[in-house]
Amino acid sequence: MNHKNPSSANIVIFGGKGDLAWRKLIPAFFNLYTGGFLPKQFSIYGVHYEKMPEKDYRAYMLEGVNNFSRNGKASRQQWKEFSSRLFFFEGDFTITDTYRRLGAVLDQNDKTWKERAVRLFYYSVAPRFIEPISILLAEHGLAADVDMDRIVVEKPFGNSLKTARELNQLLTAHFSERQIFRIDHYLGKETVQNMMAFRFANIVYESVWNNNYIDHVQITVAEHIGVGGRGGYYEQAGALRDMIQNHLLQLLCITAMEPPVSIEAEDVRNKKVDVLKAIRPLNKKTIAKEVIRGQYGEGRLDGKSQAAYRKEKNVDPKSSTETFVAMKLFIDNWRWKNVPFYLRTGKALAKTASVIVIQFKQVPHRLFGPSVMNDIRPNQLIISLQPEMETSLLFHAKEPGVELKIKPVEMDFTYKESYEVPVPEAYETLLLEVLQGDATLFMRADQVEEAWKVVTPIMETWSKQPAPRFPNYKPGSWGPKAAQALIDEQGCDWTLLPENGLRKIQMKKSKLLA
Ligand code: BG6
Repeated sequence: MNHKNPSSANIVIFGGKGDLAWRKLIPAFFNLYTGGFLPKQFSIYGVHYEKMPEKDYRAYMLEGVNNFSRNGKASRQQWKEFSSRLFFFEGDFTITDTYRRLGAVLDQNDKTWKERAVRLFYYSVAPRFIEPISILLAEHGLAADVDMDRIVVEKPFGNSLKTARELNQLLTAHFSERQIFRIDHYLGKETVQNMMAFRFANIVYESVWNNNYIDHVQITVAEHIGVGGRGGYYEQAGALRDMIQNHLLQLLCITAMEPPVSIEAEDVRNKKVDVLKAIRPLNKKTIAKEVIRGQYGEGRLDGKSQAAYRKEKNVDPKSSTETFVAMKLFIDNWRWKNVPFYLRTGKALAKTASVIVIQFKQVPHRLFGPSVMNDIRPNQLIISLQPEMETSLLFHAKEPGVELKIKPVEMDFTYKESYEVPVPEAYETLLLEVLQGDATLFMRADQVEEAWKVVTPIMETWSKQPAPRFPNYKPGSWGPKAAQALIDEQGCDWTLLPENGLRKIQMKKSKLLA
């Protein structure tokens, strides 16, 4: 973190005309440019196998920016400046000629700029292209400078422990581990990064952040929309591979990790790997009881009809792919012994919300009887990552009055109320970190493999079982009933945001310390 920006960069996007480049990457680079974060000298090449006039490519990318940038429509002048450095590069990823021509262009830029520029090669491609691109980049020596050249790999990173290992072996055969940036875009989200500050820049939370005070932890990443046009991909993935193996386990790592000795990439990543290694392995019995899967049927979402998952485009009408998972995990280490971690994710749910809830234990001795305090809920810390960006602490306070009455209240820290500066998109943060060569927010090879180890027993058990009775939840609901039963055992409910009606104590801008 806080590494230096390079003075020049050649950025190559394999799959430069694809959906990711259109919706996320080019809008992110454009916002970095307008924010003054891109190097003084840079060129971006979108590599694609079909011919396309440069003018049309730029116009198409402008449409992407106008539609998806958090800043809305691009200003004409800024787009003109930016797009003069954005180039279409026609080339088949699998043939040597592409790399020969690409190498000549990059070398020419280095000559013009009078320095060897940083090279960023972004693999925004289907998994089958990772191998040929890596081999040909290496053969042509295009990413040979270990300090200057970086490879960015998108998820899915393998679809099992075996394939992830093979992919790691393939990449590390051609590049050094410190050149490889495996993206999990959740790690670039502002609120996720704030978790590090929240936990390790404050003493108050850290001292109660353990099994003496915490009853359980909940991590929910719920999505309101169904799989939409992504059925083809999703059929092979399902919620376990698509969300739990990466995003939710990464959130769990940040929540549960020990304080690192520094914020350098290796120190932070070592602590995250420790968490994954300490997760109690699941077995057939625990999977049957504590891992719930679901698939949405047909119904209505926001007043419109929502097709059943099995009727979505490119989905098998008898599909047993799960669109929902809720599960319980334990981390067998000193800090977390016997504290359950509940994870939940799904599509076509009641609302979109990503939330981490730390539920504390009840007070050891109840001083106030039911007539004084009839609502005896435990303290909760609710960290809402999106779409609301806020942290709330629920505690009890005396209601003003001559009678002694104690009620729960909520203390809130919201980004909206506290800061006027806009919040960057995850991809902006991540791309800048790659340019700066800082891998803290990216996954190391062993981290990815350990995460696969956590979900492998589930994949194996499910693959040996008869197809489940799907669909088992309605669009717009909170998933199958069994997910509720899972948390009921804990004597509580899934939590998203503090209930309406609680008295709020808000930290207003004016109250924040200068
Ligand atoms: C992606 C998954 O990694 O994350 C998608 O493949 C999912 O299925 C998406 O919709 C969620 O990301 P976000 O940033 O919208 O919460």
